Amino acid sequence: MAPSPVTVRDAEGVRTLTVDRPERLNALDRQTLEALDAEFAAAAADASVRVVVLTGAGPKAFVAGADIAEMNQLDAIAAREFSLLGQRLMRRIERMPKPVVAAINGYALGGGLELAMACHLRIAADNARMGQPEINLGLAPGFGGTQRLLRLCGRAAALELCLLGTPIDAARAQELGLVNRVVPAAGLQAEVDALAARLAAAAPLALRAILDAVVVGGECPIEEGLQFETAQFALLFATEDMREGTSAFLEKRTPQFRNR
Ligand code: CAA
Repeated sequence: MAPSPVTVRDAEGVRTLTVDRPERLNALDRQTLEALDAEFAAAAADASVRVVVLTGAGPKAFVAGADIAEMNQLDAIAAREFSLLGQRLMRRIERMPKPVVAAINGYALGGGLELAMACHLRIAADNARMGQPEINLGLAPGFGGTQRLLRLCGRAAALELCLLGTPIDAARAQELGLVNRVVPAAGLQAEVDALAARLAAAAPLALRAILDAVVVGGECPIEEGLQFETAQFALLFATEDMREGTSAFLEKRTPQFRNR
């Protein structure tokens, strides 16, 4: 059996998924998209997983895009299926009931940036390069890039990145709000480990309420979004973790959250 293009590692509530095709700079072919989809579904369903970290194998790339060799052979009907497969994966990641952190350890281009943008938080190494270079291939982004880049960074930045296709460095990506933090490449793992450990210790039902309110509520008109926020807020008063969190504050001790 061929080795999976995605490797899985578990440590203390943190599941790390690594796109593992370094000889292709972790480019996303159909097999890799399907493997990622299955791994995110499994991580969503597994209560022992509190946080997912997504990264790429090797020293050069997070993910250098959709697989150009595979796309070169697609007709329009197959390309539609390829786009839908990628979009379905990105939406699954965005709608995960637990936080997903992208550790951007190098190139995040095309489908690779689209993958990173579907994650909830993005930490970039200072040598990372990000962009939507599809235009250089006579193509346009097809895994949600036009929509997520627009929503994350605004129309001017989205059009600049997509129309010119020139990658930007990590500092510019932070200026645009495309990544949350930039750290020296050698410190990326430690930074992501610390962030993931912090999220893994937080109250899972409250994390989920926040993700739902921001991701789903944020796609609604504000009246509906606010109503949705109130519903999430009120629901948390039915959880043991909310009683524990507020009691621990009043008793001046560290809370122990139990996902109940
Ligand atoms: N698909 C397939 N293979 C890829 C790839 C990709 N997206 N990116 C890199 N590779 C392959 C290269 O062909 C090369 O293979 P060989 O060793 O067999 O020649 C290997 O990975 C190493 O890459 P390079 O030799 O090119 O490495 P480099 O350091 O010289 O350059 C790079 C790095 C600038 C990232 C360059 O590889 C590159 O420009 N890659 C393509 C980036 C791109 O255009 N991505 C967008 C794809 S389209 C897309 O994603 C559409 C969508 O929205 C769905």
